Amino acid sequence: MKCSVILCPAHLDELYFTGKTIIVIDVLRASNTIINALKNGAKEIVPVASVEFAVKVSGGMFGGQTLIGGERNTKKIDGFALGNSPLEYTEEVVSGKSIVFYTTNGSKAVAKAKFSENLFICSFSNISAVAKHIVNLNTDFEILCAGRNNSFSIEDSVCAGRLVSIIQTLSKNIELSDSSKACLALNKSFGKSILAMLKGSEHGKLLIENGFEEDLKFCSETDSIKVIPYFKENVIKLPR
Ligand code: MLT
Repeated sequence: MKCSVILCPAHLDELYFTGKTIIVIDVLRASNTIINALKNGAKEIVPVASVEFAVKVSGGMFGGQTLIGGERNTKKIDGFALGNSPLEYTEEVVSGKSIVFYTTNGSKAVAKAKFSENLFICSFSNISAVAKHIVNLNTDFEILCAGRNNSFSIEDSVCAGRLVSIIQTLSKNIELSDSSKACLALNKSFGKSILAMLKGSEHGKLLIENGFEEDLKFCSETDSIKVIPYFKENVIKLPR
């Protein structure tokens, strides 16, 4: 299995992803919101790349069964039912619902990778489950870090390194790119306390400033949720 890490999707276009196996990571916070919503019984997440498209898509879906969620500058968008705190996506709120989802980096990364053959969503919370699944697939894969504002983010790259290191413990059949080796090193240096790493990150500091410190705790938990969200036919779901 060849493995490489895309540190940020800005320089790639949609066709790059055609036919590939891609794992999208946006630790703060889109991956965790998607993972928690689906674990709590949401029917599906519809990731979109613009607020305008979110409103348009939700207009064509069933009233009452559809919610629009996401953020701009970490905050809930006017007219949206939900923001992008994973803690908002409780069973009471999301069970049975389709959620149209826009975020600054995470939903855009998923939408950009829509032509992938296989597309999974990962964070620390489901990392071992995703690692096992990739080893079972036994195919070349690329980890797509959503990054931050078209740039590198430490939390996504450390998580990518952690994923590679778990896969290495499960399979000897792995060929690492330079980017994978760099992320392994980042995980070694910064992965000792995930919470401390998140608190020290640029995006973590902004979330704390905006009152979302609890989200950092949630997003730092490892192997707390065993689901593997996958994207197919424009929606993210759990396997049945
Ligand atoms: C994103 O997709 O940019 C993030 O999830 C932003 C956030 O923390 O809400």
